[in-house]
Amino acid sequence: MTPEEFRKAGHEVVDWIADYLRDVRSYPVTTSVQPGALIDQLPSRAPEQGEPMDAILKDFRELIVPGLTHWNHPRFLAYFSISASGPGILGEMLAAGLNVNQLLWKTAPAATELEQVTLSWLRQWLELPEEFFGLIHDTASTGTMHAILAAREAAAPEARKSGEFPQLVLYASEHAHSSVDKGALVVGAGLDHIRHVPSDERFRMRPDALEQMIQEDLAAGRKPFCIVATAGTTSAASIDPIPEIAAVAQRHGLWLHVDAAYAGTAAILPEYRHILNGVELADSLVVNPHKWLFTPVDISVLYTRRPNVMRQAVSLVDVPPYLTADASDRAVNLSEYALALGRRFRSLKLWFVLRSFGRQGIAEVLRGHMAAAAQITAEIQQDPRFEIMAPTLFSLVCFRYRGTDDQNRDLLNGINTSGEALLSSTMLQGRMVLRMAIGNIGTSLEDVRTVWALIQKLAPR
Ligand SMILES: Cc1ncc(COP(=O)(O)O)c(C=O)c1O
Repeated sequence: MTPEEFRKAGHEVVDWIADYLRDVRSYPVTTSVQPGALIDQLPSRAPEQGEPMDAILKDFRELIVPGLTHWNHPRFLAYFSISASGPGILGEMLAAGLNVNQLLWKTAPAATELEQVTLSWLRQWLELPEEFFGLIHDTASTGTMHAILAAREAAAPEARKSGEFPQLVLYASEHAHSSVDKGALVVGAGLDHIRHVPSDERFRMRPDALEQMIQEDLAAGRKPFCIVATAGTTSAASIDPIPEIAAVAQRHGLWLHVDAAYAGTAAILPEYRHILNGVELADSLVVNPHKWLFTPVDISVLYTRRPNVMRQAVSLVDVPPYLTADASDRAVNLSEYALALGRRFRSLKLWFVLRSFGRQGIAEVLRGHMAAAAQITAEIQQDPRFEIMAPTLFSLVCFRYRGTDDQNRDLLNGINTSGEALLSSTMLQGRMVLRMAIGNIGTSLEDVRTVWALIQKLAPR
């Protein structure tokens, strides 16, 4: 592709994205295609000869796009809804164009330093302690896995050499995200050694139950090593009592990791900073700009108060000669703190977002989402056919039709096959609950009301 061919196709692509962002409401939120549909439409072998870009773009528009669920749709209210904002998309495009690989400071000096700058800015907005060291990972799952790995390193430093572990035990609330269990599995804790701590009536981890489980494990000769608290659980957006949990962690010398992948962003608002109270006592924290900070997937931020332990957890005694590099306070080699050697230039899109919105701009969108969630909660409460199943925190509304789980399942199916909206579900107190997660930058109160009107229409009288 010559630069001129690139310019022509590039303009077409930018035009397509701009039109998409403008017209996204005219797309069905999700698709009705059957599994295997695309596989059946595309050739089973790659082309021998290169094809013209026009043909590739035509197939993108006609075959790929119709088979997608549109996460950037304002009535995508499932899971935790996300946004690729204009500034974030531009940053992502430039990062792809540059294609720098942050193996070491010297392979990408400005990219390495921009990661430090953006994470320092975000750290200040979240009012985290200055000594918190930040590192970008692809996802919260990867960040949390590294935190658990560092916890293992702190608890059993000899294991890195011998490969022999004591019976390590990890604790997280019964509502913690599955990535916590996966992280524990991957670092070798063993599924039998993951404790799901019961929660209270507001779905918050119970510190007394945590303490009791630790005592039982200690009495049985096992080695507690890590607690994961969540600020903004996936099912209910509940906030574990971090100060009390931190006290337990300190009492027993355990690593405390805080999963604030979704709700952490809310702490940018002064009136919500309290959700991270106690986090200054944590050893690590994860926050996802690709969830509620309008930055395209993927980018997750891991902060740690103990970067040296994290580095030790992934350090080799013999560094291969092609990777030896001088490190200094001013020339940090970020790959020394993570499993992956290659690192995308993810901070660029975050920098674009932080600068383009500014703190006030971000705050305005977050407050709008939370106000819409509060308003629709009030409206749901006025319909006697429905009940609210968890306090509406942040921008997540958990509710159900007062009927059987099957009726709720049918209702969800009706909403999701309408093409008008996409919701997801969870289980709370043994019952199926519908989740309306507001988080896309384009979502207005009007969108949410449209969805609520649809739900009311579809629900049995
Ligand atoms: C609370 C929480 N933690 C972690 C994750 C995992 O995030 P990621 O997809 O970035 O791994 C999620 C995903 O929704 C989540 O809700």
